Amino acid sequence: MRRFWINWGRWKLKVNLDPIQAAKQKAALEAVKHVKDGFVVGLGSGSTAAFAIEALGERIKKENLHIMGIPTSYQAFLLAIECGIPITTLDEHPEINVTIDGADQVTPELNLIKGMGAAMAREKIVAAASKLNVIIADQNKKVKLLGENNQVVPIEVLPFAISLAKRKLVAIGGKPTVREGKGKLGPVITDNGNAILDTYFGEIKDPAELAVKVKMIPGVVETGFFIGLTDIVYFGLSSGVEKIEELRK
Ligand code: 5RP
Repeated sequence: MRRFWINWGRWKLKVNLDPIQAAKQKAALEAVKHVKDGFVVGLGSGSTAAFAIEALGERIKKENLHIMGIPTSYQAFLLAIECGIPITTLDEHPEINVTIDGADQVTPELNLIKGMGAAMAREKIVAAASKLNVIIADQNKKVKLLGENNQVVPIEVLPFAISLAKRKLVAIGGKPTVREGKGKLGPVITDNGNAILDTYFGEIKDPAELAVKVKMIPGVVETGFFIGLTDIVYFGLSSGVEKIEELRK
């Protein structure tokens, strides 16, 4: 699929996108409107967040916008550099104005599963440091209950703890599988040097309770459960963008 840019108002749009990619881009273009001059912005990971990083790069060029980005992964870091977004760190800017990130599943309560890109540990740290968290997704990510449609929960574990964590996850009703790399033999190694246990729990009625149980397992660094961290979700649709808002207190 060839991609190229056209001008659409003050935005450049990628055209010739398939419908899902186009929906992701629409959501991203809405989300970047929350970014104002002088903001520190959390840069999410994944294919949807990439559209937001590209759109922010465009705004920097077109509007002379002054922002700094805190990337949540090497993917986001490299793309931000390519798009001309100045990079900073949480140590220099402990409070982030707004973070824009993708998700793998989103419930009506705005609870999420994240981490199919294995970046959820840094994503959660950046989200927790943000005054406003905006999630962008195509509408296929919308679910009633987390874990629907055979969705697994990504769990980052220290390599030393893989066998123990697997045993403990089975004990609380999970079916864990070590995520294998593509273009590399053996397990995926995260940006933090850890492994991912993709764990199937079925449909999850109480994700907050399960998230605590999983986090208590020795060696678990982070889980893909994002509970009560999201303020706004933009779902890209074929006909436009749906906004759901549940501002945190
Ligand atoms: C990475 C993530 C991503 O945001 C999530 O997997 C969604 O990715 P995509 O936008 O490519 O569907 O949580 O850890």
